[in-house]
Amino acid sequence: MKNIHIILSLIAIFSRVALSYDFCKDNKDLLTKYNIYKQFGGEDPNRKLSAENDIPTFAYEKTLNDNKIMQSWIVNVCGNEIDSSSNSKIDLSKYSKNSLFYAATKIESADIYTEVINILNTDLNNDNLILNELNDAFTGLNVLIKSQNNNNFNITFQCDNNLKIDEFGKIDKQESFDINLKEQFINWSINLRGPSGCLTNNKDNKPVQPPMHAQSHSFFLYFVIYVLIFTCIYIGATSYLEVKDGGTLQDFEDTFKYKFKELVFAIPAFSKELYNKLMGNSSSRYNPVQYNNNGNGQNTDNRGGYAAV
Ligand SMILES: *[C@@H]1O[C@H](CO)[C@@H](O)[C@H](O)[C@H]1NC(C)=O
Ligand SMILES: *[C@@H]1O[C@H](CO)[C@@H](O)[C@H](O)[C@H]1NC(C)=O
Repeated sequence: MKNIHIILSLIAIFSRVALSYDFCKDNKDLLTKYNIYKQFGGEDPNRKLSAENDIPTFAYEKTLNDNKIMQSWIVNVCGNEIDSSSNSKIDLSKYSKNSLFYAATKIESADIYTEVINILNTDLNNDNLILNELNDAFTGLNVLIKSQNNNNFNITFQCDNNLKIDEFGKIDKQESFDINLKEQFINWSINLRGPSGCLTNNKDNKPVQPPMHAQSHSFFLYFVIYVLIFTCIYIGATSYLEVKDGGTLQDFEDTFKYKFKELVFAIPAFSKELYNKLMGNSSSRYNPVQYNNNGNGQNTDNRGGYAAV
C-alpha cells in the first residue's frame, strides 16, 4: 500500500514536470522561424531582460472623473526574468515573476488595482493556446489565448524590421456579458509591431509599407506653403520695383493686390507644372518653346497669370 502511494506520487510529480506547458520551449519549432524566439531570450532562459531595451512595454495614463488612471503592459513571452530598474514608467508592483503577459490598471487616488492580468506558463495548455502564422496582408504571428479568468487574448506580432524592439500598436478591449452564465467576458486584441513578427530568413518577409500617404501629403503641404511664400516675396519685390519711381504706398498696394489676384487664379496650373518638373514627370514637363514662341511669354493659355508676374 505504501509503495503504491510512493509510486503514485512519483508519477504525479513526474507528469507535472513533464506536462507543464512552456510557451517558448513547446512551440520552439515555430517560434524559431521568427525573430520572436531570440528577441524574448528563448535561447537563454537565464538571460535577464531589460524592461527598457528588450521587451515591449506600454504605460498609459489618463484622468477620468478626477481620478488618475494608470495602465501598464508588458509582453515577455518566454517568461525570462525582467530587470525593470531603468524603466520607471511601468508599474510592476503586481507583476508575477515569469509572467508572459502582464497588464495592470491602477486608480491612483484610491490606490487600487482594478484589472490585473498575469498569464503564466502554468495557465497555458494545448487547448487554450493557438498560434497562427500570418503572411497575407503582412508577415507576422498571431497568438490566441482563451479563457483566462474570463479574458480572451488575441495578440498579433506584426513584422516591422525598422524597429529594434516591438512596440505596442493597438490595444482593443471588447466586453460582453453572458446572460446565462451571468458573467462578464473581455476580449483583448493587441497588436505589436517590430522585429519579433519577422521571419528569420529575411527574404520571405512582406516589407513594411511606409506611411506613403501621410508622407506625400505633408510633402505637398510644404510644397504649397513654399510656393505661396516664395510668390508673395516675388510679387512684393516686382511690385516694389514697378512703382518705386514716384509711386506711393497706395500704388504699391494696388499693384501687389492686382498681381496677387492674377496669381491666385493661376496657382493650380503653376503648381502642377512645378510639381511635375520637380518629380520628373516628363509627359507634362514645361516646354519653353511651346510657351514662349510669341516672344513675351504673356499670352499663354494655361499659365497666363503667373507668367505675368
Ligand atoms: C485576432 O486579431 C486579428 C487582427 O486584429 C484578426 O484579424 C483575427 O480575426 C482575430 N482572431 C480572432 C480569433 O478573434
Ligand atoms: C470573444 O472571443 C470569444 C472567443 O474567441 C468569442 O466566442 C466571442 O464571440 C468574443 N466576444 C466578443 C464580444 O467579441
